[in-house]
Amino acid sequence: MDRDFILTPWESEGDIDYTRLVERFGLNVISNEMRYRVADTAGEDHFLLRRKIFFSHRDLGVILNSHQSGPGFFLYTGRGPSGNTHIGHLIPWVFAQWLQKNFDVTMYFQLTDDEKFYRDAGLSLDDTYNLALQNARDFAALGFDPNKTHILINSRHMGTLYPLAAQAAKKINYSNTKASFGFGNDTNIGMIFYTALQSAPCFLERKPVLIPLGVDQDPHFRLTRDIAPILKYPKPALIHNIMIPSLAGSKNKMSASQKNSAVYTTDTPNQIRKKINKYAYSGGQESVAKHRELGGNTQTDVSFLYLWMFFEPDDVKINNIKKEYESGSMLSGELKQILIEKMTKYMEIHQNRRESVDIGEYIFDEVEYKNKMRR
Ligand code: TYM
Repeated sequence: MDRDFILTPWESEGDIDYTRLVERFGLNVISNEMRYRVADTAGEDHFLLRRKIFFSHRDLGVILNSHQSGPGFFLYTGRGPSGNTHIGHLIPWVFAQWLQKNFDVTMYFQLTDDEKFYRDAGLSLDDTYNLALQNARDFAALGFDPNKTHILINSRHMGTLYPLAAQAAKKINYSNTKASFGFGNDTNIGMIFYTALQSAPCFLERKPVLIPLGVDQDPHFRLTRDIAPILKYPKPALIHNIMIPSLAGSKNKMSASQKNSAVYTTDTPNQIRKKINKYAYSGGQESVAKHRELGGNTQTDVSFLYLWMFFEPDDVKINNIKKEYESGSMLSGELKQILIEKMTKYMEIHQNRRESVDIGEYIFDEVEYKNKMRR
């Protein structure tokens, strides 16, 4: 196996080559036809689709068919609470909110406090639970419909999740998880069981499920897709986003456990300004004269990539920035300034919503769920 880059739910190393990743994971690149079909069915386009930030899928066509002439579908995604929420996490969630709004569907959001407890030697179960509540605020702040959105926290909602996880666990064997995640003899058995728990919400309803997620999480659901038919459930469908790079550049994805690699939703305007000015990798030239002559590189410039991937949805504006930066008329410092302003404004609005949102309205209600399933 080629090891020039590694991407699993728990490891990321090297420059991700997406063409090779598509082959390695066996993903389906979203065709233009599929892109138009999603936009047509939704009634509007989304820049994350248009810019190919959401770039691949599994069984997206099945979901659209089920929406148009079948039982419909539900949405599911999640977060492993290992730290504050960073801007990479927002990508699948913002898109999930758009899907919920345009397809009018139920959404389940799983917070895997157990996963991060098993994974991170420095975190207690209380720590990860408290982080889960913080992360839940970021998710709910994005405008999900409280009547159709249910946040599950693994350590609190086992009554519902365990019977589903047990069914999955019985069908996933050790050699398959080991091959997917590279477990060794020293891996704790919580981690070995964990994929069954991330699979469980796929089986909360008998309908097809669509999961918007970062492509690093795909290995879990490859296992889920193998066993779903044995359990007489539809295979979970996926729509994957590429990974937003760390501040230091494309060699690493943004990660909540590496402090200076990430911009968090809790950062102050001052922290944002300092991080971008000091750490954001620049695709500019080493001198102003050289930059004016050769221009900047928008493929590697982290400030440009953050604008492109998230903070500047307006195509006309982003294309102007691209042209000016590549031609050398815009300097690296000026580009950083644009990002700082956009990010600060975004965070100000987000932080206000985050403080005022009532997560109680979103927390999964086991009694209500049981009643709904009985009907
Ligand atoms: P976690 O907490 O690592 O990430 C949450 C979501 O954010 C995506 N993501 C990113 N997207 C773009 N750029 C990045 N740099 C970046 N970093 C993370 C992840 O792919 C994910 O979609 N085990 C999961 C929690 C989970 C889950 C799920 C995720 C439970 N059930 C269902 C997706 C779908 C985790 O630790 O995610």
